[in-house]
Amino acid sequence: MRNRTHFLNSMAAVPIDYNLGAGVPPLNLYPPLNLSELVGLFSVESNDKTINYHETGGYITSTAQNFIEVTENIDFEINNIIITNGVQEAISLAIACFKNEQFACIEPSYPGFEDAALSFGCKPIKLSAENWLNEIEKLPENALLYLSADFSNPTGKSLTFEERLRLLKIAESKKFYIFDDATYRPFNLEDAKPSLISLNKERVIHAISFSKILAPGLRTAFVYLPDSLKSSFVGHKSNLSLNNSGITQKIIKEWLNHQKFSLDKQLYLIKERLNRNKRILKSHGIDYFGGFFCLLKLDRVVDYYFCETLLIRKKIAIIPMILFSDDPKYLNQARICVANIDENDLEFVLNEIRKFEP
Ligand SMILES: Cc1ncc(COP(=O)(O)O)c(C=O)c1O
Repeated sequence: MRNRTHFLNSMAAVPIDYNLGAGVPPLNLYPPLNLSELVGLFSVESNDKTINYHETGGYITSTAQNFIEVTENIDFEINNIIITNGVQEAISLAIACFKNEQFACIEPSYPGFEDAALSFGCKPIKLSAENWLNEIEKLPENALLYLSADFSNPTGKSLTFEERLRLLKIAESKKFYIFDDATYRPFNLEDAKPSLISLNKERVIHAISFSKILAPGLRTAFVYLPDSLKSSFVGHKSNLSLNNSGITQKIIKEWLNHQKFSLDKQLYLIKERLNRNKRILKSHGIDYFGGFFCLLKLDRVVDYYFCETLLIRKKIAIIPMILFSDDPKYLNQARICVANIDENDLEFVLNEIRKFEP
């Protein structure tokens, strides 16, 4: 089945001169990943969990607990953690668990959520970007609201502190759950706002991916689950994937120990780049605060034809916002990823796009 998630994923694999399309991490800016050293390939024994079946929730849960406790400055029980094949699997597991409940997301939203829901025969309701905090008052008990509190894909927007508090107050009183997709949360350029789980551990699922901060090929995410959801997540994971690869878990565990659970050294260069790009974007009147994405507004319609011709003639990839939303206000907008381009090229590309006539 071809869908938007498939399209975005295949775009990530195409070599392009200026790739502002896919949200691929700039691995060239990350310190080298010495896999054989991390796996300790020659010391693995036959009964080692690295190469054997093991518990469905993962065998590096204490590493995951430690990592989230340190990065989010909170405490919780090891039982609240599972390891998944990326955040995308965590999304699918959430959909399997809430299959008979109402799903909701804020328009425009990450298509990996809506497309996964459709695969399960579920159709999320879309809340409006302007009024969603009022609309969630009508969500039924046990609904699941998907969002990214920090640097959402595709808009790059984050919730303010006041919005976080109000959201959690309503979730508490209406008894619905929130899936906070924290994939881009580590790419903050100013002080991080408190995460939703640090403000409420009963209503929030927090999923942090290693795809953008280390390597997508490791297919690993750490997922915090409220007590009430743990057993149904594990039950569905055992049906969908049994457990994650033990080898990639071992890599992540050794890597995190090696980093002393801090991402500072790993993300230093990318954050420097994002800060430089932020200045270029500002000079072009574009709002950008962190993460990988922001919205580029043009004086013309930005449709598939415009983006395809731009790609063929100028080798510049951008994604039309109509891929993410039917709202006519996005007809002249594109999502641009600013993680894989340096500031000189960004300046050049923005000028090229503005004057481009397909
Ligand atoms: C918002 C968001 N969530 C999840 C994913 C998928 O993450 P993972 O590679 O951890 O499955 C992506 C990938 O681009 C994303 O942008």
